[in-house]
This record gives sequence, C-alpha cells and structure tokens, in this order.
Amino acid sequence: MEFYQLLLTLLFSISLWFLFRNKGKTSCKLPPGKTRSTWTIICENLEFYFLGRMGIPEKFIEDRMRKHSSQVFKTTLLGENVAVFCGAPGNKFLFSNENKLLQVWWPSTSSQIFPIESCLQEAYQEEGKKLNTFASAILKPETIQTYLHVMDSMIKQHLDMYWDTNEKVTVLPLAKILTFSLGCNLFLSIEEPLYIAKLAEKIKLIAAGIISAPVNILGSPLNRAIKASKFIRKELQALIKQRKIDIAEKKVSTTQDLLSHMLIATEVYGSMNEADIASKIMSILVAGFDAPSTTITFIMKYLAELPDVYGKVLQEQMEIGKSKGSGESLTWKDIQKMRYSWNVLFWNAFSTHKNPNYFPDPEKFNPSRFEGDRHVPYAFIPFGGGTRMCPGMQYARAEILVFMYNVVRRFKWTKLYPDEKIRFDPIPRPVRGLPIQLIARKNDSK
Ligand code: HEM
Repeated sequence: MEFYQLLLTLLFSISLWFLFRNKGKTSCKLPPGKTRSTWTIICENLEFYFLGRMGIPEKFIEDRMRKHSSQVFKTTLLGENVAVFCGAPGNKFLFSNENKLLQVWWPSTSSQIFPIESCLQEAYQEEGKKLNTFASAILKPETIQTYLHVMDSMIKQHLDMYWDTNEKVTVLPLAKILTFSLGCNLFLSIEEPLYIAKLAEKIKLIAAGIISAPVNILGSPLNRAIKASKFIRKELQALIKQRKIDIAEKKVSTTQDLLSHMLIATEVYGSMNEADIASKIMSILVAGFDAPSTTITFIMKYLAELPDVYGKVLQEQMEIGKSKGSGESLTWKDIQKMRYSWNVLFWNAFSTHKNPNYFPDPEKFNPSRFEGDRHVPYAFIPFGGGTRMCPGMQYARAEILVFMYNVVRRFKWTKLYPDEKIRFDPIPRPVRGLPIQLIARKNDSK
C-alpha cells in the first residue's frame, strides 16, 4: 500500500472523518490545529503513515485531541485541509448534518473507476445517495433471512473443504475467499471457484485503485483499477441482461438470488438501466469485500487470545446448536439469540472506541462492555451512522455470526505467531494473515 493510498483512504473511509474544504474563504472560523504549509503537509502525512505501520494509528488522533481540542481539530492530509470531528458529539454532528453543513467528498480516482455522465462532485453525491437506497433495498433483513440456510450450508462446505482437511490454516486469505464466494453466490448465483477467484482479483484491484495516487498511466494502481472496473461492469451487464430474459421466460425462480429479487422489484429499480445496476452491484461488492473478512480474522485472533471469551461464545452457540435437529439450518431467530457473540466485534473509530471516557480500559478486548444498552449515544459506531450508515450491516452480521456458530463448535485454535503484529494499511490486518493451529472439538457439530 502506497503512502498516498493510505492518506486518500483516511479522507473518505470512516464516518469519523469528514472533509470540508476551505475554498479560499479565509474569513470562516477554523478549528485549532496545524495550518497548511509544505513542512506541515510532510510532517502530518508521514506521522500518520508511520503510526499506521506501527499499528497505533489512534495515537495520531489522541495526540492532536490533547494538543488542540478534544472536539475538532484541523490538520492537512493529501494537500487538503481536513477537520477531524471527535467524540460522540463529533459523530452526532457528522451524522446529522450531511447535505446541510457538510458534503461528502470523493477522491478524483473514484470518478474514473466508477464513471458517471457528469464529473461534478454534486453528481457523485447524488450517486452516493442512490447507492445507499439501492443497497438498503437489496440488503434488507426480510430478504437476507430467506438466504440464511444458503449461508449456513456454504459456510459448512467452506469449513469442510479448507479447514477440516488442515491442521494449520491462515485465517485472513480464507476469510476473504469465504466472504467473497458468499457474496457471488447470494447476489449473483456465481458458484464456479475459478471465476470467483478472477472476480475477487479484480475487486481487489478496484479497492486498491480508489485509494491510490490519481495517476492514470499504464501499470499504475489507478490504471489497473479502471481496467478491472470495465471488466466487472461488462460481465455484470451481460449477466443482468441474461437474467432479465430468463425471468421473462420463467426459466429461473424470481427468488433465486439477490439479483433476481432486485430485478423484479421494479418500484425501486424501474428507472435504472443495466449499466446502472451493474455499477451499483460492483460498488456493493467492493464495499462488502474487506470489512467482513477483516472482522472474522480479528474475531479469530481475539478468541485465540482470550479463552474465557471463546468459552462464552462457545456456550452461547452450543445452546443454539442443541435446540436444532441434526442437519437443521440456522434461522433468523437463532441469529437474534447470538447476543454475546455479536458483541465480539472488532474495534476501531479511534476518538470514541479507543477513548476511556466512553469505554473504560479501551485496549482490553471485553465484549461484555456492549451488554445492555449503556453506552453513550453516538459513541459506538462500527457501521457508521446517519444517512450513510452501512446498508450491509444485517448481511454482515448474519455472515459473521453464522461463521462463528460453525467455527467455534468445530474447533479450538491457537495462534502460530503469538506476537504477530497488526498493521494498518489503512485497514488493520495481522502482518502474516493470522496463521493458526486448529484443534478439532470432539462433538457432533456439523
Ligand atoms: C463488518 C462488516 C462491515 C463494516 C464494519 C462496515 C462498515 C461500514 C461503514 C462504517 C460505512 C460508512 C462509510 C462512510 O460513512 O463513508 C459503510 C458503508 C457501506 N457499506 Fe459497509 N460495512 C461492513 C460490511 C458491509 C457489507 C457486507 C456490505 C455489502 C454486502 C456493505 C456495503 C456498504 C455500502 C454499499 C456502503 C456505502 C453506503 C453509502 O455510501 O451510503 N458493508 N460500511
């Protein structure tokens, strides 16, 4: 991951970060912090980059909150003036004021990878809203629950194929294969592993291109992302065209997958052509690619490190397992019962999640802190908030919990590198991908 990739990601990645650009309006009141000068640009960018490499990006925020303001400070990243809103009030402000006091800004790479007719930022903001409406409509819980049994059986097959046959596995690459295959299957009924691997490669290039330097020359990350985007959109358009024909000729079920659901729901998609739909599906595949596999990897890491947490997750999942007949699949009701397991979620959004004022002893992995309803509003925001809250949350929740249900009942595991470092580039990941030793549990958990 290149230096500029990291910084670009920072600018648009999570909801804590919003960017307002001071388009020459020197009279407006600016928050405290470093002003823009060549020296400041170099120092701020380098510091953020190296703290990420060291696995402590939160220090960048904490230091500036201490030095400038615990509410909002300004800094400069990628040649842009950036205001960083902090704490629960900062989150509340961001989530409540989009399109009023704040506008989302996208890096110029986006317009080349996700081309639309107009290149104006306003047009992209409009597309962003459409994406959220589109994704929320496809990924609503009522639809997802009808595919839960498919998720469950695919996850079981994945464990049979890649985990049961090995004593040692590396979690991150396997989690990526699993979550992307689930997406391809549930969204598009694509099952062929080699084709899925090819699509995954292209999606990876797109994700890397969005957060790369805006340089479109042969072989540059942006150039490769543009080519990958063209490839994916062409494939998806052909698939959508064929699916429309198959639905019209009643050759396939209208509930076959999320694509069919989408195509028959004309009230939402009526005005969208095939290119639009292909582009939105591609965005969903990109948005849903990294986060669930990263979350699964960190869950595996913490469960290996904390046997008491593993024990509680196992107990919860065994209870659910006991209530089911042999071979009976999980239901949406079962997912709702997995309360403790859902609290075992991965920890980011530094100015609140790592802030002892909101969460005492924040470095300690303690899922019990999320029991009940006692945290400060706007402090815990793993899926963002406001109008741009993650539309994939229920889908991600289902796939992560179904995975946990299956994995803890089959295995215990230990880390092969107890001190494996975490690096943020900018998504956190164990540097070796979390290799683990599996120990099969002796019970009928399949
Ligand atoms: C653990 C898993 C996940 C986490 C933690 C997560 C988190 C987030 C966050 C924080 C945002 C808001 C970003 C912003 O404000 O700019 C977001 C947006 C989004 N997420 Fe997720 N996400 C996850 C899984 C997924 C999955 C599985 C999908 C799709 C299947 C998905 C689809 C999207 C889309 C389409 C957006 C853009 C919404 C918009 O721009 O309005 N996410 N996600």
